[in-house]
Amino acid sequence: MQLNLLSLFALSSTALADLSGLFPSPVQTDVIDFFSLPTLFPPPVAVDPIATEAIRQTLALYPFAIDGKNFDALSKIFSSDAVANYSAPLNVLTPLSSIKETLKASLACVTTQHQFGTQLIDIVSPFTAQSITYYRAAHFGRGNLSTEVATAYGQYQDVWKRQSDGTWRIVHRNLVYMSEVIGNQLVFLPRGAYLTTNGGGAQPSGYRTSVIELGADTSVVAQGQLRILIATLKGHVDLAKLLLDSGVDVNCILPNPANTVLSAACSTGHLELVKYFVLKKGSDLSFPKSNGDTPLSKAVAMGHSEIVDFLLHQGAPRIANNEEAFPIHVAKYLDRREALRVLLGHGTDSNTLTVKKKTPILLTAAAW
Ligand SMILES: *[C@@H]1O[C@H](CO)[C@@H](O)[C@H](O)[C@H]1NC(C)=O
Ligand SMILES: *[C@@H]1O[C@H](CO)[C@@H](O)[C@H](O)[C@H]1NC(C)=O
Repeated sequence: MQLNLLSLFALSSTALADLSGLFPSPVQTDVIDFFSLPTLFPPPVAVDPIATEAIRQTLALYPFAIDGKNFDALSKIFSSDAVANYSAPLNVLTPLSSIKETLKASLACVTTQHQFGTQLIDIVSPFTAQSITYYRAAHFGRGNLSTEVATAYGQYQDVWKRQSDGTWRIVHRNLVYMSEVIGNQLVFLPRGAYLTTNGGGAQPSGYRTSVIELGADTSVVAQGQLRILIATLKGHVDLAKLLLDSGVDVNCILPNPANTVLSAACSTGHLELVKYFVLKKGSDLSFPKSNGDTPLSKAVAMGHSEIVDFLLHQGAPRIANNEEAFPIHVAKYLDRREALRVLLGHGTDSNTLTVKKKTPILLTAAAW
């Protein structure tokens, strides 16, 4: 079968299109787990060097387009209806115009260098191929941060379709991270906002604590969201206000573990920010994380009783998380006595004092 494929390439593309039904397409668009990769692509009996090289050459244009900030050139690599899962928080981008715009915006503050490494190109049929390509992407800061770098390690899992003009385009991409983004996340901050936090006298080394240390998912994120997450986690009140005033939505969904800035501020215990988000910006008090934890249960879990008191005064709902743990359960399990006292002082329904579950998962849900 594989040998016959080679001779088929001599046929015109119209003839090839007629044959497409004959070939199964065992390409997959689901994310492939790393363990399966070595056995998923057995060495072929015969390779198709022409198609393989065409794909390799096309893929080489990707770093040129991104690093050259020529995002329009991505149309030489992706089909116009391509679907690309760039993982959280960029997530699924489609069609091509959205891929271009989102990548352009998310890389606006940095210059980049993308390096390809280990690569496998599997020509599945005359019309279909799958490739796996390791990459390392360096993101360099600008201005005072020009010697700082944040590096992403991952792989592109691409599905290719041969076009009617004989060229190959990516129709589906999964970008899978193989590590956290390593290095100085602050390169993603715009220079203006960065200098604002420093009162004009920037000292990058003073701001090196990375959000990784705080347990955040720090994949390359939509700029405003990463900035406000950093500002909130690090308690930069002025920067957080500036970002909200410049249009970042106070209820925007952030990568784990924060989910919203209110949730992040409740976790770190920053009462001033909590008050600002709620009173001035109308933060959603009941917005739950994926595990169902509300800002109130975060504050309870971390024992920030002043915030608990403030949220209850503002009418924060005392709803249970997905593990059926009400804030009062969280306070009891984690022995947050002051928070428990505050909850009871606000007249918590004594029914919820009944301990429903004592599973470790409940306890972890209540932590970060
Ligand atoms: C760093 O920022 C300060 C304050 O704005 C400025 O005076 C200085 O020239 C900057 N240095 C570089 C290398 O950009
Ligand atoms: C996108 O990729 C991530 C892994 O990188 C995966 O967890 C997620 O389920 C994918 N999303 C979709 C919609 O396929």
